[in-house]
Amino acid sequence: MIKVALYDAKIYDKPSFEYYGNLHDMHFRFLETKLNEDTVELAKNCDAVCVFVNDTVNKAVLDRLYELGVHLVALRSAGYNNVDIKAAFGKIHVVHVPAYSPYSVAEHAMALLLTSVRRIHKAYNRTREFNFALNGLTGFDFHGKTVGVIGTGKIGRIFIDICRGFGMNVIAYDRFPQENSGITYVELDELFEKSDIISLHCPLTDETRHMIGKDAIGKMKKGVVIVNTSRGGLIDAEALLDGIRERKIGAACLDVYEEEADIFFEDRSGHILNDELLARLISMPNVIVTSHQAFLTEEALNNIAETTVNNILSYFSNDGVCDNELCYHCGHIEHCRKERREKCF
Ligand code: NAI
Repeated sequence: MIKVALYDAKIYDKPSFEYYGNLHDMHFRFLETKLNEDTVELAKNCDAVCVFVNDTVNKAVLDRLYELGVHLVALRSAGYNNVDIKAAFGKIHVVHVPAYSPYSVAEHAMALLLTSVRRIHKAYNRTREFNFALNGLTGFDFHGKTVGVIGTGKIGRIFIDICRGFGMNVIAYDRFPQENSGITYVELDELFEKSDIISLHCPLTDETRHMIGKDAIGKMKKGVVIVNTSRGGLIDAEALLDGIRERKIGAACLDVYEEEADIFFEDRSGHILNDELLARLISMPNVIVTSHQAFLTEEALNNIAETTVNNILSYFSNDGVCDNELCYHCGHIEHCRKERREKCF
């Protein structure tokens, strides 16, 4: 039996992981706590750990997992910026779920955008109190507006299709543009200058951290709407707040926040929020925050559990070879052993 410590387990994770685990003689130890240096010991006697976006998988944690005899870190997410892939190399293999439902995230981005621009959240609260007044609820047509999409991978491309369905003019920026995709690529500055709406769909890397900061906001149109369903660190939240205060930014739709790790995914309604910046953002009438829920659809949860279980199985039954392995070398494809059906190290 393969034993897996599943950190940061939520009530909605259990049914699908239990179902797919039981099919393959895999036992999940569900742990409500997040993985970090203080909780790593809970993985004792396990073959693998299964982690999510806000678990801390730094060098110290990886070294201790290695000492405990854990062979594999199985991310149940696509993004892996919380894992020190370089530190893992040569010690612990890392696998992820590259795609589980890109539709879930792209559709959530559009849901946020529509809610914000058409003031649905405000109208909902009003009519519940029999307030049928329309003042303050004026939105704008999406048709004919320019949307700038940053990152044209799986999610970004679906978001582009959705926007085209609304009759929007789509421009995009990607570090690695897709050839013959029919997407109109522009330089980042041009995207900032021309877009009425900007939606972020690129990964968080050293290069993209705070790509939406004071300078970028300075180049944007007055009244621009910013949507971030990717990673909080893409936006400098202080600069965003300044842009909102100065009336430069028309609205912000945030499913992610740079300092979300100790806040999101939990009920904190009975507590005083210690993050002044987040509290200030949430208090703004033109900011909508959801708690990293873009992925949360039934289809996505099932696909996440199924792929994670298959990743773990293929690692333990396939001589360590797993198509969804992440490794330090894979940034340099010519060194990629996976291509040769070998383990990454
Ligand atoms: P993907 O890997 O298919 O696409 C990412 C795209 O970003 C690629 O086209 C890549 O070339 C581009 N890119 C890389 N570096 C860039 C840079 N410096 N500037 C501009 N573009 C760059 O990834 P996918 O599946 O589309 O996911 C995108 C992001 O969405 C993930 O990195 C993750 O952070 C986020 N995500 C958020 C979820 C949520 O629940 N809010 C759930 C799943 C993913």
